[in-house]
Amino acid sequence: MHGIIFSELKKYVDDRLGGAAWGALLEKAGMPGRIFMSMQEYPDADAAKLVSTASAITGQPAQAILEDFGEFIAPDLLKMYASLIPKKWLTLDVIEHTEETIHTVVRRRNPGARPPELRCQRLGPDEVVIVYSSPRKMCGVAKGIARGMARHFNETVAIGESSCMLAGAKECRISVQRQPSNR
Ligand code: HEM
Repeated sequence: MHGIIFSELKKYVDDRLGGAAWGALLEKAGMPGRIFMSMQEYPDADAAKLVSTASAITGQPAQAILEDFGEFIAPDLLKMYASLIPKKWLTLDVIEHTEETIHTVVRRRNPGARPPELRCQRLGPDEVVIVYSSPRKMCGVAKGIARGMARHFNETVAIGESSCMLAGAKECRISVQRQPSNR
């Protein structure tokens, strides 16, 4: 998992739980004093351990944490790759084109980074379906990013998941619908 995700995770924990929480989380996760550099790669298992430990500490389900985290990081992701994103794009446009416009470039610029391959179908002006599959099974992050993007663009979206890897499906199908009142 790319270091940027770990540095964002620290920022997220600082924001949600206060400055002392990150150190306590590292300690409880068995990695006291660990420092993550944003340009390096770290084992996926470390991210999974941090999330499951945060879940044990806060009593929140891991999926809820991943979703909240995804929502939290969306503005930073947009900022990081702003030069690739046309000004007229809104939430559904960014999602629809993330694979070929953004994740592809993330892979090229950061050898070792493995963002998931997203297959998106634009069903109409107000709906996009994301077909997500990744060995990390982090569809919660995808749903959170979609929600965070909508917040960033001042839109409201309804998110549904008709199949999910966590329930044994081969891939997750996540639908993101823009609510007409916000057009
Ligand atoms: C500006 C837009 C985006 C940027 C810059 C971006 C960048 C990244 C980066 C750097 C990673 C870490 C990769 C790794 O650890 O190897 C990642 C992971 C991920 N991205 Fe994106 N992303 C963007 C948009 C999206 C969107 C729109 C979605 C889906 C709605 C998405 C879904 C995910 C998920 C679920 C992961 C977690 C890793 C996994 O599931 O395997 N991303 N992204």
